[in-house]
Amino acid sequence: VALDAFNTFGLSARAQRYVAIDDIAALQALIGSPQWPAADRRLVLGGGSNLIFAGDYPGLVVHVALRGRRLCGEDDGAWWVEAAAGEPWHDFVRWTLAQGWPGLENLSLIPGTVGAAPVQNIGAYGVELAAHCDTVEAVDLDSATLRRFTAQECAFAYRDSVFRRQPGRWLITAVRFRLPRCWQPALGYPELAREVAARGWAAPTPTQVSDAVIAIRQRKLPDPAQLGNAGSFFKNPLVDGARFAALHAQWPALPHYPQADGQIKLAAGWLIEQCGWKGRRDGAVGCHAGQALVLVNHGGARGEDVRRVAAAIRADVAARFGVELEVEPVFA
Ligand code: EPU
Repeated sequence: VALDAFNTFGLSARAQRYVAIDDIAALQALIGSPQWPAADRRLVLGGGSNLIFAGDYPGLVVHVALRGRRLCGEDDGAWWVEAAAGEPWHDFVRWTLAQGWPGLENLSLIPGTVGAAPVQNIGAYGVELAAHCDTVEAVDLDSATLRRFTAQECAFAYRDSVFRRQPGRWLITAVRFRLPRCWQPALGYPELAREVAARGWAAPTPTQVSDAVIAIRQRKLPDPAQLGNAGSFFKNPLVDGARFAALHAQWPALPHYPQADGQIKLAAGWLIEQCGWKGRRDGAVGCHAGQALVLVNHGGARGEDVRRVAAAIRADVAARFGVELEVEPVFA
């Protein structure tokens, strides 16, 4: 099966075997069958927006096509809303807003599916999925048992979770959100506050916040339908206070964000731009002109081209700043 349409970077690749899953019981039956592969020979695929195919996939691609979304409970404090893993994330966000259930608006326009969202704890404009995630339901792909994780058991961290740390083990089937009735816009991210203010919204509604996020993303981030990409290609690196002080003394303009645990998060996009990579291109793969953190496919890129450019950027940033960038998308 061709995977070209199943990865937003637009890489050409084939799967040795492929199955689309729209029913949990059918998945559990498949896991019990003799053809079921070991963890390193199976790949769970959602929207393919955080995925780089190094070449053809030499195993079974399990495409999650579970659909459905519903209000599963409410009380004086909150609405509980659940979506199946195969629902497109952004459509789900806009649907919750249209129903009058706020909370996910800062996460508008993130590509991918609901099921992929907890894996890397998607986050943008000051809000992470972890803030509103209530529980995650997943099938253990080793034992076929269905399990519900509390948000705490998901061990969410910056672009990380228990699911990400155990590749091939879990297939997320549904995610439940707790969306509190007592809502305040999260405008701590200066660019978002500016966008809202520029539109004259002194007390924005959740949908207005979503509209502002959409406008910012459309300005800065390439649309995968026009220019293949996998969003941010590197995580923003965390350094300790001493390391930060040394860097800051040398580069006073270095954007930085102190974390609750005392570490300092640096802007990888800034580090990459300083190394001269913003808008630069090496063959079919380039660094996006509007956001240096995003690698793009100018057409016909292969997995090895992506690897080469990513390695060159990492090497330049390490040489200049002594900071090791960590790749964000999953290589399969
Ligand atoms: N910057 C530069 N040059 C660049 C890009 C950024 O100097 O080319 C500077 C900006 O001026 C700013 C700082 O870096 O001072 C941060 O930039 P930005 O606000 O664009 O956000 P980011 O840290 O680069 C992160 C997420 C994005 C998310 C935005 C907004 C990661 C890895 N990326 O990017 O997430 O949309 O914040 O919250 O944390 C994604 O994960 O795919 C993604 C797009």
